[in-house]
Order: sequence, then structure tokens, then C-alpha cells
Amino acid sequence: MKQKTAIVTGSSGLIGSQTVKFLIEKGYYVVGIDNDMRSYFFGKDASTKHSESSMKQEYGDMFNPLNIDIRDYESLELVFKGLTSTESNMFGKAASEEYDLDMIVHTAAQPSHDWAAKEPLTDFSVNAIGTMNLLELTRLYVPKSSFVFTSTNKVYGDTPNRLNIIELETRYEAVSNLKQIPLEVDETMSIDHTKHSIFGASKVAADVMVQEYGRYFGMNTVVFRGGCLTGPNHQGAELHGFLAYLIKCIVTNRHYNVFGYKGKQVRDNIHSWDLVNMFWHYHQNPIPGAVYNAGGGRDNSTSILEAIDSVNQILSEKDPSHTPWNDYTILDDNRIGDHIWYISDLTKFKNDYPEWPGITVSLEETIKQMVEFEISKLPVESVA
Ligand SMILES: NC(=O)c1ccc[n+]([C@@H]2O[C@H](COP(=O)([O-])OP(=O)(O)OC[C@H]3O[C@@H](n4cnc5c(N)ncnc54)[C@H](O)[C@@H]3O)[C@@H](O)[C@H]2O)c1
Repeated sequence: MKQKTAIVTGSSGLIGSQTVKFLIEKGYYVVGIDNDMRSYFFGKDASTKHSESSMKQEYGDMFNPLNIDIRDYESLELVFKGLTSTESNMFGKAASEEYDLDMIVHTAAQPSHDWAAKEPLTDFSVNAIGTMNLLELTRLYVPKSSFVFTSTNKVYGDTPNRLNIIELETRYEAVSNLKQIPLEVDETMSIDHTKHSIFGASKVAADVMVQEYGRYFGMNTVVFRGGCLTGPNHQGAELHGFLAYLIKCIVTNRHYNVFGYKGKQVRDNIHSWDLVNMFWHYHQNPIPGAVYNAGGGRDNSTSILEAIDSVNQILSEKDPSHTPWNDYTILDDNRIGDHIWYISDLTKFKNDYPEWPGITVSLEETIKQMVEFEISKLPVESVA
């Protein structure tokens, strides 16, 4: 029997590394593609290189990480060609006899609004052209495989800010106009006539192309529009990964800047495992060109002020002498195009994939894991 095989781009990042782990546990051989461009975007503190080495150590021959830039079509083609070829190449003598490449999970990206505006061409080339390269190679070499793309809720631009938003004590809330019922965002929200940010627009280009390869070519492509994706393996940076960066600041006692909205902006947070489990359920029964919102939903939503409280509480439970951290400044200006409030509606995915168990990792549990992860990185003397 051939070895089930997947290509995972961004394999050292938060979602990519969780995908590698998940698929290897399912018996897959995983070819990872990551050039540690995260350290170019956000500095060496945000590098994902160490995650690659620890996975290599843990998974041995089942994980084959390659340092390739997804903008480099020729190098990517060597991988697709190699895994499906009858001729001798870097994957062995007759890879096509050995490997059954049936899943491409594309998570590599430039993921930040603010960074994108610094270098729009780089942002577009990574997010849009990189995705195009992978789609086209999938069509040419393994058109029957699943192609999973991690898009973003920023494809809706600032349209969610035009909902009926009310201010509560610690958070904003979007409610229906008449009955004031709390809302969630589903996939019918328009992605047109809105301010996306440069990042949001490059992701729209990729998102629409992934859908088109499903609709036009009939391929098993799927778009997951993420809310906040979190988990212990997130290398938080000020410009990306709010919860991871906030926790890093609190645990290491650093200053944190809140960009506008009084710290009451709301995000829904999905643990990387729950998201990758969505990918897996899609792969069992793929629907061409599907689009799903994928966040933590209402139960896993938090404002920044509430998140600070939760982290302080968890640290106090661990160490009753913990002095609550409050070293933050709430700036007047919000990030351009940033959401005031966003909570994903997961109904469409639940209806299409009733076997998916739903969100299994609570926000509290996720924060606990992230706190432990940050503590584990502290120098030994500061933990003692
Ligand atoms: N984390 C979030 O809150 C969030 C929210 C919505 C959507 N998303 C999307 O989910 C996906 C995964 O996000 P993440 O948080 O895991 O990001 P991440 O930054 O942790 O991981 C992305 C990985 O891709 C690699 N990479 C970047 N450019 C590359 C290139 N040109 N070639 C090869 N590798 C490259 C990086 O080095 C990094 O290891 C991205 O598409 C992102 O836009 C993330």
C-alpha cells in the first residue's frame, strides 16, 4: 500500500506545525515547506525555526521539512513532480509507487495588516502569488487531492464595524437592530465595498482563486476564514497574534500597547487543534470550492481587557503572590481597517460536517497552555 502523504506549507508556524503533528498521528508522511520568513516579517523573536527542529527530532523520517519560498514556482514544482514521479529523485527511486499525495494544506503567509502596508509587493507576492503557485501545481500534478487554504476574516474588511455595535462594560457587542439579539458573522457577509487593509486584499485575491479552482476546475479546494487562531506554538509578535503577544508581555513583564477601541475590541479564538480537525473532516468528504468561517465562536470570544483579566487570574491561581499586571497603554488610534467586534458563526461547517465535534478547547484552556508555553521559555533563574 502506498504511504499517505501531505504537503504542508508554513509547516513551522502555528497552524502548519499543528497540521504536521495531526497528520503524522494519522499515519501521514508530511513534506513541510517553510523558509522562516516570519523572522523577516517580525524579527528573530518571532522565528519559527526552532519549531522545525523540534518536530524533526520528534517525528524523524515521517517529517521532511524543506526550506523553500512559496514564491519560487520551480522549487515547488520539484516537490510536486518528485512525489508523483516514476523516475529517481530526492524522494526515492520511484516516488509515484511509494507515495499517495492526497492533501495540500497551505498555511504559509504574510499574516499582518500593518506589515503589509510597509511592503505591499512582498505581501501580495507571498499571499496571492504563493497561493496561485500551489493551486496550479496541485491542478497539474494531484488534481484529486484536497487543497486546504487558511484565509482570514479580514476578507470581510471593515464591514463588521457597520453592524449595530453597542458598548458594554468590558467589551463591544454586535446586536440585531430590532430585538438586540447578539450576532455572529456567517459566510454571506459581502467581501466587496469595504476597507480590507493591504493584507486583507491580498488574502481576498487568494481566497477567491482557491474558490475558483474548486468551482471552475472541480478541484477539492476549501477556504477557512479564520478568526483569531491561537495555540501554544504561536510566536506572538506585536504586529500579529494578539493573544500570544499579550501573554508574552504579561509573563515577561513587558509593556503592551492596545491599538484603540478602549481595549474593548472582541475577537473569537480557535485553538489550532480544533481548526486542524476541521481540515481533517473536510478531507474525509471534500466539497469543491467550499468556504467556511472558522473561529472560536461566542464561547471563545474575548475583549483585550477581558483577556488581561483572564491571564492575571490564571497567574494568580498558579502563584498567589502574583501582582496583577497592568502595564499597558490604550492608544487612541486603532489599526486601519481593524475590527471593533468579530465573532464567527460556525453553523455552515457544522451542517456540512456533522461529525466534527465542534470547539473542544475552551479559551481558558488555550490561555493556560499559552501561559505555560511562555513560562517554559523563561530563563531558569526567573522561574525559580
Ligand atoms: N494567527 C491568526 O490569528 C490568523 C487569523 C486568521 C488567518 N490566519 C491565517 O492562517 C495562516 C496561518 O497563520 P499562522 O498564525 O500559523 O501564521 P505563522 O506566521 O505562525 O506561520 C506561517 C509560516 O509560514 C512561513 N512563511 C511565510 N512566508 C513564507 C514563504 N514565502 N515561503 C515559505 N514559508 C513562508 C513562516 O515562516 C511561518 O512559519 C495564514 O495564512 C494566516 O494568514 C491566521
